[in-house]
Amino acid sequence: MGKEIHVHGGVSLQGRVRIQGSKNAALPILAAALLTKEENVLCNCPRITDVFRMLDLLRSIGCLVRWEEQGVCVDAGHVSLSRLPADAVMGMRSSLCLLGALLGRCGEAAMEHPGGCVIGERPIDLHLSALRRMGVDFWEEEGLLHARAARGLSGAELRLPIPSVGATENIILAAVCAQGDTRLQGCAREPEVEALCRYLVCCGARIDGIGTGELVIRGGKRLFGTSFRIPADRIVAGTYLFGTLAAGGCAMLEEAPCSQMEAVISLARDLGAVCQAAKEGLWVQAPRRLRHVPLVRTKEYPGFPTDLQSIAMTVLSGAPGTSRIEENIFEDRFRVVEPLSRMGADLRQLSARQVIVQGPRRLKGQRVEAVELRGGAALVVAGLMARGETVITGCPYIERGYENICKDLRELGARIYCV
Ligand code: UD1
Repeated sequence: MGKEIHVHGGVSLQGRVRIQGSKNAALPILAAALLTKEENVLCNCPRITDVFRMLDLLRSIGCLVRWEEQGVCVDAGHVSLSRLPADAVMGMRSSLCLLGALLGRCGEAAMEHPGGCVIGERPIDLHLSALRRMGVDFWEEEGLLHARAARGLSGAELRLPIPSVGATENIILAAVCAQGDTRLQGCAREPEVEALCRYLVCCGARIDGIGTGELVIRGGKRLFGTSFRIPADRIVAGTYLFGTLAAGGCAMLEEAPCSQMEAVISLARDLGAVCQAAKEGLWVQAPRRLRHVPLVRTKEYPGFPTDLQSIAMTVLSGAPGTSRIEENIFEDRFRVVEPLSRMGADLRQLSARQVIVQGPRRLKGQRVEAVELRGGAALVVAGLMARGETVITGCPYIERGYENICKDLRELGARIYCV
């Protein structure tokens, strides 16, 4: 039998918890470590299964990897183009960053079609068309996607029609190794893209426009190994912020990246929370009663993150009045509607992109199954709100992104454990 999370709800939270390093920053930076032939030390790298999978992938092509207390060391001195383990590639969409990194390092790559959470159609057309314009040919053979830059990678003028995070990262990884400059317009501005750029700059790359929607990447600079600190995870911080609103009480979220959380903090304040950005992190106090919020819409950064949408839905089920949730990034990201409804939430899904929440409802504990990462975290938050015991199965999904969600929430006084 798989592990289960048991939560006894209705206990208000109080205390402090340190926020782990960011999954979505760590994964492309680990791939980027392939671009240097020296050792890289990535401090504050989260110990989560997606990172372990990425490290397995790096090992499979010859990298030396070891954990130390402060983080993980990756030495890509010798890389061979052996076959990437299919299950690690297919189990994690961000293995796709290896495409840009391997093209940069070796000029070619071959992999299965990358997987990840089952949220909507997640095509890779933007990655492929941008890399094609940089001189890469793609073909499929025996179920593998092959890529080769026979005449080397060349810089290009590119414009993304959608600011895709993954495509932006792949283009950056290829562009730092290309001949000539790449101008990338319409790129994603997520803090994780910025972290990747900052890491590459530490390695010796030249990138202008970091943090904006237009990057100019100077190709062909020699890259060196470096030591870099992975920033704190804004989605984990948001999870515990909404967890505190769900359960009531107050919490200090140590090292929470407040400046990256404006839209999240703004929703928490609309719900009645007192939030204070401090030097040590984010202090949050839940209101006695949640306030009505009519609309939550997900947007690219700096808008409200899609990764916190199902968690926001959970909290809104306990707030008064009618709320509409609009998911503008992915379709089919409402897989928590069914288990949350069974717990007593009043939810009506209007389309693949809209759900109506009628509150306030007092949830009651149930046995529910996590079927994807953030939806799983939303069920944990629902468990904090609910009367009685909630049992959550499908824990491996949650462990993809949270180092130890039970321990973290126990530090805030929640009655939660994993068996
Ligand atoms: C990343 C994050 C994920 C987050 C998402 C949106 C990582 C490891 N994952 O995912 O947690 O939810 O950003 O903030 O960092 N699209 C295409 N064609 C493509 C690529 C994307 O149509 O080739 C579409 C997608 O279907 C989606 C939208 O673009 O509708 C955004 O996707 P994207 O930003 O690429 O998300 P990921 O990088 O996969």
